[in-house]
Amino acid sequence: MQDRKIILTGDRPTGPLHLGHYVGSLMKRVEMQNMDKYETFIMIADIQALTDNADNPTKIRENVMEVMMDYLAVGLDPDKTHFFIQSQIPALYELPMYYSNLVTMSRLERNPTIKSEIQLRNFERSIPVGFMTYPISQAADITAFRASYVPVGVDQQPMLEQAREIVAAFNRTYHTDILVEPEAVLPDNKLCYRIVGTDGNTKMSKSLGNCIYLKDEAEDVKKKIMSMYTDPNHLRIEDPGQTEGNVAFIYLDVFCKDEHFAKHWPEYPNLEALKEHYRRGGLGDVKVKRFLFNVMEETLAPIRAKRVELAKDKEAVFKILREGTEYSVNFSNQLLREVKDAIGVNYFEDESFVQQYIRNQS
Ligand code: TRP
Repeated sequence: MQDRKIILTGDRPTGPLHLGHYVGSLMKRVEMQNMDKYETFIMIADIQALTDNADNPTKIRENVMEVMMDYLAVGLDPDKTHFFIQSQIPALYELPMYYSNLVTMSRLERNPTIKSEIQLRNFERSIPVGFMTYPISQAADITAFRASYVPVGVDQQPMLEQAREIVAAFNRTYHTDILVEPEAVLPDNKLCYRIVGTDGNTKMSKSLGNCIYLKDEAEDVKKKIMSMYTDPNHLRIEDPGQTEGNVAFIYLDVFCKDEHFAKHWPEYPNLEALKEHYRRGGLGDVKVKRFLFNVMEETLAPIRAKRVELAKDKEAVFKILREGTEYSVNFSNQLLREVKDAIGVNYFEDESFVQQYIRNQS
């Protein structure tokens, strides 16, 4: 089992995880975990969360266990996967210090994810240094664990590109091959890359208030679906309706399988037939939304049930995270050791340095 390839990924604990996280990456993580082919690390990225929440550490602290519960609820399994908290891993502080000398300011400024996040947060010229450099820290997260695969949302691709550049620069500069080149793993279905919010906004995001959370009660999910953005011109049932840009149909595209019709709405053989009727007119939004709710519940109800189960023994959940963190400290320290050897900042461990110093003295 020594030469299993390694998976590492994580999320910022700024809020509970939602449907966007689920289809954008969590599904893929569970799938890869269950292939029993890789060693998997999942990290709660609290340091990265602090890079734009320095004044609100309570929010981050409160969401660490929240995210952990979401992970376990969706089927990430502590018997197969190591979970840890970023801030507790010493290597993740040391490595960025060395990597940052191999990255230019202009390269960071060109990073498309950073660019759009700066806009989104209205930082303008007041960008925290820690925020600006988090791609370097993220490269450390990935390389410290020698990860080959990083299942993430599509918005993280520029981070992976930057990490690969750091790997290449490090290996070249220090004449070594210890750093492993990582690659992003995206969902198989392109429709899952980015799921729209319930209001039709292109991004599901907590700040926009358009999320369906994995921990939402069935009642809340129903309410959110019932108030979902559809086709504003589809006023009366008889009116022809648009399925494009219609959130109910976008979600059905992602979640609905033919079996769901057999089970919940046998009048239609499949989604195409339903869309056909909607476009023709004579099909009301409420019926479509009720069906969508039933379809979504096939995914959400088991996650919710698992969460309730987990909440009965929070001590066990806490222990998983603590033990995973301990394991991860040791695991990443090995790579850190090799990095320091490669650069030569290993004065007290390197016998030849010690010998040379003593010899030259006399
Ligand atoms: N940037 C990721 C996000 O915003 C979180 C993250 C931090 C991460 N370090 C990582 C993801 C390393 C994958 C690998 O969700």
